Amino acid sequence: MGSIETSLQENRVFEPAEDFVKQARVSGIAGYEALRAEAEADFEGFWGRLAKENLSWKTPFTKVLDESNAPFYKWFEDGVMNVSYNCLDVNLQNGNADKVAIIFEADGGEVTKVTYRELHARVCQFANGLKSLGYAKGERALIYLPMSIEAVVAMQACARLGIIHSVVFGGFSAKSVQERIADAGASVVITADEQVRGGKNIPLKPAIDEAFAIGGCESVRNVIIYQRTGGNIPFVEGRDLWLKDVIANQPTECEPEWLSAEHPLFILFTSGSTGKPKGVQHSTGGYLLWAKLSLLWTFDLKPNDVFWCTADVGWVTGHTYIAYGPLACGATEVVFEGVPTYPDAGRFWKMIQDHKVSIFYTAPTAIRSLIKAGGDLPTKYDLSSLRLLGSVGEPINPEAWVWYYNVVGGARCPIVDTWWQTETGGHMITPLPGVHGLKPGSCTQPLPGIAAAIVDETGTDVAKGNGGFLVIKKPWPSMIRTIWNDPERFKKSYYPADFGGKYYLAGDGANVDLDGYFWIMGRIDDVLNVSGHRMGTMEIESALVANPLVAEAAVVGRPDDLTGEAICAFVVLKQAAPQGAEAQAIAKELRDWVGREIGPIAKPKDIRFGDNLPKTRSGKIMRRLLRSIAKGEEITQDTSTLENPAILDQLKTSR
Ligand code: WTA
Repeated sequence: MGSIETSLQENRVFEPAEDFVKQARVSGIAGYEALRAEAEADFEGFWGRLAKENLSWKTPFTKVLDESNAPFYKWFEDGVMNVSYNCLDVNLQNGNADKVAIIFEADGGEVTKVTYRELHARVCQFANGLKSLGYAKGERALIYLPMSIEAVVAMQACARLGIIHSVVFGGFSAKSVQERIADAGASVVITADEQVRGGKNIPLKPAIDEAFAIGGCESVRNVIIYQRTGGNIPFVEGRDLWLKDVIANQPTECEPEWLSAEHPLFILFTSGSTGKPKGVQHSTGGYLLWAKLSLLWTFDLKPNDVFWCTADVGWVTGHTYIAYGPLACGATEVVFEGVPTYPDAGRFWKMIQDHKVSIFYTAPTAIRSLIKAGGDLPTKYDLSSLRLLGSVGEPINPEAWVWYYNVVGGARCPIVDTWWQTETGGHMITPLPGVHGLKPGSCTQPLPGIAAAIVDETGTDVAKGNGGFLVIKKPWPSMIRTIWNDPERFKKSYYPADFGGKYYLAGDGANVDLDGYFWIMGRIDDVLNVSGHRMGTMEIESALVANPLVAEAAVVGRPDDLTGEAICAFVVLKQAAPQGAEAQAIAKELRDWVGREIGPIAKPKDIRFGDNLPKTRSGKIMRRLLRSIAKGEEITQDTSTLENPAILDQLKTSR
């Protein structure tokens, strides 16, 4: 593990190669500065020009930005368009009809390719099937599907009809599905019989039945089931439908629903610091503009590229850089089902070789786990098709960066370390591969038009060389529009009064160095980043205390070599703190419980039992102390305000 620790200091700057700069869409610092200057000089003119040039409009917009009800910004609102039209029909018109849109590789290695013409036909059939069942613009569809061409088709079909989708990652539990169905008021659920991961079939559809059994799913009229495996699963007559029947004999043309650019495209639930996950609502026009432009700029996407983003469509990365952006660019993209380590840790490298991937986008957690599973494996494959690498989801430690650069990229491919969030819709701070010298661990500088800054508590910019809160000072087209059903929470979470309500508060801490490069330091709220997945500590705490054995629980993160952060739970039971085998048995029971309440990704790695939690005299849990204990650090903080100091020793030894 020594090779992937986070201790290495890496001070080299990796300048882009001259031939890369020459061919890049945004070329050299002058190209970057010109775009920034354009945005600076005429902010609306800049975005208006890009929206006109990059999207196809049924009716052009007359106004770029409406700030009259800030922070509920509106972009291109009177413009009329359709996302699916822009991703599919436009490609049929401009010569891409027979170009491969998706190369899909299943868990077992089977490869399926679809062209733009075929994808268009499949999306139209799916949309016509939904229409024939009476589904229409403005309704919500909950999508709970494994990685598949069908998942992309389902999302695009919804977009075609103006049905707002909410994709839920297949690793979330029935309970999480139920909460999302209820919050979104979904009228249709699109799922699969089973998913396949690492050679195993894992039932998916039964979670939908369980969600119905919990209650609150009365809004749903149909459950549409894609048969991924043909496994034997329960089928509810009258409500459930097989996808193959829904699309049978449907025409392969479907007039898109023409929508205002502000029509909601999707809701995606993500964890916040308090309460239940929030339904982040995205728009049609502004979202698609940035999905497309960020691919062209950050990934320097060209017509001959083969683009592969390894994310799942259950996360925002899979929305922007699988389901929408690459198709809006007319790209050929790889979509994969399974895990990076099956059939062995060479899966990614073999797929890059087989499909001649030129742009590869993955997460630091995957990189770290592949270093661990076989650090020299990439050298056994022909990776010469690669020309650009990307990273997303969490800070990338310099060791992983240097390995990715040298071993995967052959010291030839720039790495774009892209900082962004579910709420931002697309990249915000990232190197441009033909512009920036790269410093491992830094996401470098904001994209043109993105007014990112680091400020102190008063909202004043910090001087170079300092740290503070990461904010975005001006709106941008792909920004979150609101939290579904909860506009007040939207305002409070992202435009808090502390900064005058003017700036978008990202929730991350960051430093800016003397060259003006940004370094993300991690969340400033109670949100953990485990393997690049956002988890709210409060959500996990509520799940734990819902268990009949538990009286109280506090959850904190601790650093982990592989997953970035690990979930560490401190639990007080209604009985005395257990020890030895009993403690282990109860810990297992609680882990499984959290797996059922939220999903396996939320299972705490460590569970420590105590007869109490460290609290101040006013009853507030002292989380910073828990963080130190979780890390195994000496406690150096002042503990004089602690009501019950003895508890620290018990928690320290309670593993
Ligand atoms: C973190 C994922 C450092 C950050 C696209 C952010 C990063 C949260 C990076 C959003 C990066 C994302 N470097 N940290 N390149 N990218 N993060 O909503 O804390 O799942 O706030 O979106 O991930 O996670 P989300």
